[in-house]
Amino acid sequence: MSAAEKFLDPQDPNDPQGAENTAPECVAFVSDNQTHDVVEAVTRQFFDEPYVRDGGSQQALDYLAEAATPVVLIVDIGESSAPLTAMLSLTAAFSEQTRLIGIGTINDINLYREMVGAGITDYLVKPVTEKALAAALCRTEETPTSQTAAEGPAGKGIERIAVIGSRGGVGASALAVNLAWLVSQEQNQKTALIDLDLEFGTVALSLDLEPTRGLREALESPNRIDSLFIESATAKLTEKLSVMATEETLAQQIAYNPDAIDVLFETVGRSNTCIVADVPRSAFAVRQRVFEVCSKVIVVTDLTLSGLRDTMRLLTGIEEVAAGRPVFIVANRTGGKFQAMSAKEFQKALGHKVNFVIPDDPKTFNLAANNGKPVAQLYGKCPVSKVVRKIAETVVDAPADKQKEAGSKAKWRRFLSRK
Ligand SMILES: Nc1ncnc2c1ncn2[C@@H]1O[C@H](COP(=O)(O)OP(=O)(O)OP(=O)(O)O)[C@@H](O)[C@H]1O
Ligand SMILES: [Mg+2]
Repeated sequence: MSAAEKFLDPQDPNDPQGAENTAPECVAFVSDNQTHDVVEAVTRQFFDEPYVRDGGSQQALDYLAEAATPVVLIVDIGESSAPLTAMLSLTAAFSEQTRLIGIGTINDINLYREMVGAGITDYLVKPVTEKALAAALCRTEETPTSQTAAEGPAGKGIERIAVIGSRGGVGASALAVNLAWLVSQEQNQKTALIDLDLEFGTVALSLDLEPTRGLREALESPNRIDSLFIESATAKLTEKLSVMATEETLAQQIAYNPDAIDVLFETVGRSNTCIVADVPRSAFAVRQRVFEVCSKVIVVTDLTLSGLRDTMRLLTGIEEVAAGRPVFIVANRTGGKFQAMSAKEFQKALGHKVNFVIPDDPKTFNLAANNGKPVAQLYGKCPVSKVVRKIAETVVDAPADKQKEAGSKAKWRRFLSRK
């Protein structure tokens, strides 16, 4: 009996290849009951007839040698002593179009990074939850197999820009607001601006918006997040720009759940082509997770020694969880006493280009703040707006063909938005 015959039983009505002679869209080999149950339950939500069998990388290789390659291949490498090698041998055996998800027991960011860098779409650690697998399957739609870790899990479809300041008051929020404004109004992209600084965030204030409700709940309990929840927690500033920005009490500690970032971005990404997140420096776990899930990072800094030190530390933090992620350095608040060195000296010491310098213009910023509007809205032609426009054009990619994707994604997304 050939390997394919071993796997494909023409008499088996559950065997789509045997029954209709067509390749299953999703094939999975798993080695324990818990994983089997989760994979079976989730893949049935995504595919008409997933093919889930006992086994690991060897069984998957045997299968691939005989049968047509599936769109999604899920392989349990929990029992392999060399998980990366096991996964690499699989990537060599299938076509460019196949998305490979590994399931294993080793919880190691370096292993994950190596896998993603080698073209493996995702790697999940046991015990695998339904939510984690569903999110991974959604990502397979957005993520070309050849994607590298540098491009991030967001794929090319949805731009997720994290904006963070190296120091307090360097203008990170100001840039996030103006960037989101220009992307939404001038690039005509549906954009979500999320202020992740729940306690001290200034996005709502600077846009003269009532703080929205629900963001804290979302970041504490990701299982509450679905499209309806997001809609109720969002303020619509314009047809193209929605804002999530809250003002939480300082009397209680916020119990951030970093997993919420994945679900939040995923859900917000369903109705937007660009997400701009204003990221606080203080919440370590959230910050690191945002770096992992975003497609680009913008670090805003002044040109001081402390700004230099903290920009370096942020670059290290980004590198730890998202090696190769595109990072843009923006110098701001560079005027007067804030400037200790030139951009040239700063970038030499930093070992990274200062990509943009925003002119200091307190008068314009104050006028805009007093009007509760972005500088770019009120003074679209001023030097500050010109630089932010350049940043938008350089950093933010045009959206992929969302219409084309929408149909096939709908079924997948429904599962994730289930309560
Ligand atoms: N290029 C600029 N010229 C003049 N003023 C600016 C400029 N950029 C930002 N500002 C002003 O600097 C102040 C601080 O900006 P902002 O709140 O965006 O900083 P931040 O980095 O987000 O601070 P925090 O660390 O508190 O989050 C604001 O009053 C803002 O209007
Ligand atoms: Mg801020």
